[in-house]
Amino acid sequence: MLDIKITKTATPKAKPTGALGFGQHFTDHMFMMDWNEGEGWHDARIVPYGPIPMSPASTAFHYGAEIFEGMKAYHVGNGEVKLFRPYENAKRMNSSAERLCLPQLNEDDFVQAVNAVVNLDRDWVPTDPGTSLYVRPFMIGDDHTLGVHGVHHAIFMVILSPVGSYYKEGLNPVSIVIEKDDVRVAGKGGTGYTKCGGNYAASTRAGKKAELKGYSQVLWLDAVERKYIEEVGSMNVMFKINGEVVTPALVGSILPGITRKSCLEVLKDRGIPAVERRISVDELEQAIKDGTLEEAFGTGTAAVISPIGKFVIDGKEYTVADGGIGKVSQMLYDEITGIQSGKKDDKHNWTYTVK
Ligand code: COI
Repeated sequence: MLDIKITKTATPKAKPTGALGFGQHFTDHMFMMDWNEGEGWHDARIVPYGPIPMSPASTAFHYGAEIFEGMKAYHVGNGEVKLFRPYENAKRMNSSAERLCLPQLNEDDFVQAVNAVVNLDRDWVPTDPGTSLYVRPFMIGDDHTLGVHGVHHAIFMVILSPVGSYYKEGLNPVSIVIEKDDVRVAGKGGTGYTKCGGNYAASTRAGKKAELKGYSQVLWLDAVERKYIEEVGSMNVMFKINGEVVTPALVGSILPGITRKSCLEVLKDRGIPAVERRISVDELEQAIKDGTLEEAFGTGTAAVISPIGKFVIDGKEYTVADGGIGKVSQMLYDEITGIQSGKKDDKHNWTYTVK
């Protein structure tokens, strides 16, 4: 159990008004804690949100020692605020930390830290439909030396941002370019299954190219054969082909998404067939051409459920079914956001009350 010292801001900020966008505003406070080899985690504290002093020699700057998580806090009515499956984020952060030689963080301490800062800034949790408080826990390696080694000092922080939808399209279908040149991460044995900043840095060139052409995001193929579909970077991806939902299996280079996992459980509850397997871009193209691709959508904390209306393959645009929001996409959106916002029965006990 952490002993968290709280220093409140003397100058609370005005809350944003109008459309929130994604990750543009930050709350009044943030959580911080330090780790040294030998001493372990110490100095857990909540302080006013603001810049932190860093050595220019920090490992985080030079060798990308950084991992993060994405989670959301929701207003469920009567002033109550809930998190969604926070222990899943704690587990995944430890899996990322293990891969990047960053320290492990006790799962209860992770959840306590998130709970404490969200609780302090609970009046920042927005209440409009489709909004939430995005929670960004992250950890950096912070040795002040240029040797490439596992770190001896790390910092864990949690910052909070009131958000609307991730894509400007909201629940309207997005268009996705299938990227055949750049790869997001190396294959097996690489960092694809972790949430490390480097994976996202590697994705920006293709993402920028797609955006310049007016498309929302990039769908990545495997780094070895450039043949199998992996993920969209900001979300996992699912297809409904011939009545069955298909999602790429977690082969080591794909992020094990918590929304992905929750959707698979909801599909199972509803008796909708769903499989995790490899799916090639050729199979996807064929399914579009022969009309068996009924739906495509992304799943993620930031993106929630994001219907895909259009794919671009080798420069050619293909519309998915009628280009609208598919029935399964809508059902999953309603079910997942319904549980998160306290409007639907949480029979799996996925929500966690902030107190
Ligand atoms: C999330 O869904 O929380 C993510 O981390 C995606 C992010 C890169 C926007």
